[in-house]
Amino acid sequence: MEKMYAPTTYVSHLACSKCGQEFDIKSLQTFATCCERPLIVRYNFLDLGKEELIGRPLNMWRYREVLPVIHDENIVSLSEGMTPILDMPRLSQKYGLRTVILKDEGLNPTGSFKSRGLSMAVSKAKELGVTECVIPTAGNAGGALSAYCARAGMKVTVLMPDITPDIFQEECKFYGADLILVDGLIDRCGELSKEVQERTGAFNMSTLKEPYRIEGKKTMGYEIAEQLNWQLPDVIIYPTGGGTGLIGIWKAFKEMVELGWIHEEDLPKMVVVQTENCAPVVKYIHGQEIDEATIKRSIANGLAVPKAFGRDLIKETVEESNGYAITVSEDQIYESTLEIGSQEGISVATEGGAIWAALKDLVSDGRVKSDEKILLLNTGSGNKYLENLRNYR
Ligand SMILES: Cc1ncc(COP(=O)(O)O)c(C=O)c1O
Ligand SMILES: [Zn+2]
Repeated sequence: MEKMYAPTTYVSHLACSKCGQEFDIKSLQTFATCCERPLIVRYNFLDLGKEELIGRPLNMWRYREVLPVIHDENIVSLSEGMTPILDMPRLSQKYGLRTVILKDEGLNPTGSFKSRGLSMAVSKAKELGVTECVIPTAGNAGGALSAYCARAGMKVTVLMPDITPDIFQEECKFYGADLILVDGLIDRCGELSKEVQERTGAFNMSTLKEPYRIEGKKTMGYEIAEQLNWQLPDVIIYPTGGGTGLIGIWKAFKEMVELGWIHEEDLPKMVVVQTENCAPVVKYIHGQEIDEATIKRSIANGLAVPKAFGRDLIKETVEESNGYAITVSEDQIYESTLEIGSQEGISVATEGGAIWAALKDLVSDGRVKSDEKILLLNTGSGNKYLENLRNYR
């Protein structure tokens, strides 16, 4: 079909991620009630050449056709995305690795990759008439939602574990959010967020219980391909809590295969990393039992997610990509975070330290080869974690 207008969206419908049942995209949706699974946005991929991206804005909205917002005036943006991909020359040399690169999501407007998901979710919420939101968070998503709601003129309530470092709490207040501190981890915040939702009528932005955060996160996948000149890495290592980013990146790769921008046989192995303190997804993928009583907090707050609603999609991604799911210890996370800071000058979140620790383990047990091209997805800025690191010493 010939394109006659300025870029607009190719969005088609929402589908249950298990059975494919279609859901109305023009009304506010949560998750697929048929199978209790996340909803996925589907597109009609028309003719779109990757060369058409040239000259577009240097943020995630450059992939306009494959994003779900219908009218441009509903876009709520702080110019998120197009974060740099850095090399790691000193650590690569030290460990004898040929190519290790790091996508630095800490440089997003709210200091983490959560900017992407929440920019998209708030834009769609605005398009569908929402004026008030609520979110359970491990920290970064709450700050991001607060910022985008401020920009959209929406009211917002954030529920966060009371052990979350002060900076995450202050960030929400800075953007004018109502903050509720909860005695428990994010799953308890999730339960309480339903009460706020019922009491106030606020729209609940809980991970994968609304369909659009994943569409923001998937832009990391589009960027990885474009920034690397359409030559994908062999391995992508991702710190996994709720898993939206991992699922989103994989979705982007599949969409780009459909668009003819990349080849299916070049897709990377996707590696899920969790902490020994809280590894329900790794256990689920390996078919092991999950004993909720043993779950503990982590210095990588975003990894302390006791129940991942999207765990089947995460499992499918790891299996389809021939990837791995592994855990690292809190000590490894601490040491590896500081190792990147002191050796490469990059301010990584402890979640970013976790994936570097995981890579070293994967190389030493031979699952990743030293000549493979490895991309670490650092999801946040280390500046937000200095308190965690200090208290861990
Ligand atoms: C810095 C950071 N990394 C990773 C995660 C986990 O993200 P996901 O839900 O995409 O697995 C979070 C979530 O809070 C986070 O804040
Ligand atoms: Zn279904």
